[in-house]
Amino acid sequence: MATSNSSDSSASAEVPAPYGSGPGQDAAAGRKPAKVRIHHLQQAKRDGTRFAMLTAYEQYTAEIFDAAGIELLLVGDSASNNVFGNETSLPVTVDELLPLCRAVARSAERAMVVADLPFGSYEVSAEQAVATGVRFLKEGLAHAVKIEGSAYYAPTVRAMVQAGIPVMAHIGFTPQSEHALGGYRVQGRGDDAQRLIDDARALADAGAFCVLMEMVPADTAAAVDAAVDVPTIGIGAGNATTGQVLVWQDMAGLRGGRMAKFVKQYADLRTTLLEAATAYGDDVRTGQFPGPEHSF
Ligand code: KIV
Repeated sequence: MATSNSSDSSASAEVPAPYGSGPGQDAAAGRKPAKVRIHHLQQAKRDGTRFAMLTAYEQYTAEIFDAAGIELLLVGDSASNNVFGNETSLPVTVDELLPLCRAVARSAERAMVVADLPFGSYEVSAEQAVATGVRFLKEGLAHAVKIEGSAYYAPTVRAMVQAGIPVMAHIGFTPQSEHALGGYRVQGRGDDAQRLIDDARALADAGAFCVLMEMVPADTAAAVDAAVDVPTIGIGAGNATTGQVLVWQDMAGLRGGRMAKFVKQYADLRTTLLEAATAYGDDVRTGQFPGPEHSF
């Protein structure tokens, strides 16, 4: 294993159980839950067990997903098009993401909080990447950062890891390169699979603690997973990765419009909120709210 931050050698190497399930009944016992650490994720890969990641951009979803036992929360640059109203992930800035990250990190007791370094904040040099990574750990209270890119970024990853910044690598379809890649396109089909295997190996050898793959054929993702010792996370990358990630507004049906093939919706929050807001508006207009029970 190229990297491990396992300074806590007494801690269990298993991914801590979610609240109220099995031996990790921390909440019921009135204890703070054990934090998810990199060594738990590495152990999951060795054991063939799985973990889950969701994006989170503010306090309440961070609290809820943490309580649900989601092991990793990603303060994604997808905040650009899921919070800030942009069309793509490119415009969001470090200064916009930092307060979101701080809110998530303050609100999660157990989950590992990973922050995306946004477009333009790490590509110029390893020094720039280290400086931005430091800001996310220091000001954003993140536990790790994620950068998009190929083997070209291995020296950047090495410099960041040596500076004490845990790095998750993001390969395959990398949304920050949407224009360079010609839009949302599956990466690593057929002969192109070797390119992703080489990327993953180079980034893991440089010290990335995990490799995330986006929009990669399931067989390619399985080959990448088999080629590296570190855990892998997939989004549109089949079922052979150690973990899975989804953007929470997609997973919970808050976002409208067309969903990518890899999205599974577990709720219909858009309809629920639409109905709630409509009922509230009607009650206000008809004078039914506030009633005596809501008045002083
Ligand atoms: O920003 C994000 O939400 C991501 C996921 C697509 C993995 O990077």
